[in-house]
Amino acid sequence: MKFSYVNPTVIHFGQGQIVQITNSIPKDSKVLVIYGGGSIKKNGVYDQVTAALGDHEWLEFSGVEANPTKETLDKAIDIVKAENVTYLLAVGGGSVIDGTKYVAAASLHDGDSWDLITGVYKPETAIPLGVVLTLPATGSESNMGAVVTKKATQEKLGFLSPTVRPAFAVLDPDAMKTLPERQLINGLVDAWVHVCEQYITSPTGHMVQEGYAEVLLRNLIVLGDSFEQRDDAWRANLMWTANQALNGLIGTGMPQDWATHMIGHQLTALWHVDHARSLAIVQPSLLRSQMEFKQGKIEQMGRNVFGLSSSDDLAERTINAIEAFYAKLKVDTRLSEVEGDKSEAVEAVIKKLEDNGYLKLGENQAITIDVSRQILENAL
Ligand code: NZQ
Ligand code: ZN
Repeated sequence: MKFSYVNPTVIHFGQGQIVQITNSIPKDSKVLVIYGGGSIKKNGVYDQVTAALGDHEWLEFSGVEANPTKETLDKAIDIVKAENVTYLLAVGGGSVIDGTKYVAAASLHDGDSWDLITGVYKPETAIPLGVVLTLPATGSESNMGAVVTKKATQEKLGFLSPTVRPAFAVLDPDAMKTLPERQLINGLVDAWVHVCEQYITSPTGHMVQEGYAEVLLRNLIVLGDSFEQRDDAWRANLMWTANQALNGLIGTGMPQDWATHMIGHQLTALWHVDHARSLAIVQPSLLRSQMEFKQGKIEQMGRNVFGLSSSDDLAERTINAIEAFYAKLKVDTRLSEVEGDKSEAVEAVIKKLEDNGYLKLGENQAITIDVSRQILENAL
């Protein structure tokens, strides 16, 4: 175990905490508030944000779409440059937050914003940003990652930079009250797979990271089981669990997989499958294909998360339990967006993986293009 760990994002958690924005953003800032399609105007979040910014100079940019696009974000970058904006406030889910991170870094670059994704531009600084989270799922509110889509080429790609980690994030579970069931379930599943990507590799004996990951997974099972009885405590527990799932802690000093995400992103880029649902399609097949490397950890998960007893087929029973978890939430583990010839769909995804250079994925780089093809043939 060897790592350096820091997560400097200040979290303001709980009901009524949106007021914290007032003192979290320096008074002499010129703020650009960035949001999505308007859900924040229906749940009072927009009103609370504007009240908290009463003494600040601010302007707004709306219309960041789910799976945010370069094409839309470039318009926000133009505003930041033209208006000399000095602080960004993302109000929304992972898409708005990721989009704001992209704007934060690319606004200080003279060339094409996509250079950030290709690595041609390596940010050494970015415009500071804060977050008001309305959809717990991605952990983006306190991590340094972002995923952006280039519509023109149907590419969905990410970047990581400590310069875009939010300075603060408000997590008020009341903001979740207007979330459609589908988005809530997406949040649960995305958080679940985030833990799995950092946990289902090989046994490490790192008691804090493995033990904490197991707690988060058990939380998500309990929250899934009590989905119909949602109350304030339920919302708060999901919001905090999803944050902890991808704020960096459980992944420190651990082997990490992320192949489910890399393959899943292609399903979203090609067929607009919701992010979380793309993961549920890929993951069970991927786990079965990687049994050689992952068996020990899958068995550990079976015992410590699902409470299964030991047996020769424990790993398979654990994967079945994961599928049952998705089924109970009515999340498909098969791709239904594509009608007709599945083999054409498989080849379309494979081409995208090749184009993006994802030739060897997973913690052992064992998921070659041929293995990805097998995974997809069994998943789609
Ligand atoms: O645009 P608005 O009107 O806000 O509507 C959104 C959107 O339509 C709606 N919504 C959000 N909060 C709401 C609400 N509706 C009612 N009430 C509320 N309180 O929900 C819809 C989906 O929002 P979105 O932000 O797209 O969802 P999510 O948070 O799941 O984010 C998904 C994006 O994050 C990326 C994904 O790839 C995807 O692009 N990810 C980012 C990660 C990161 N930065 O670390 C990691 C993840 O693995 C993931 O890849
Ligand atoms: Zn995810």
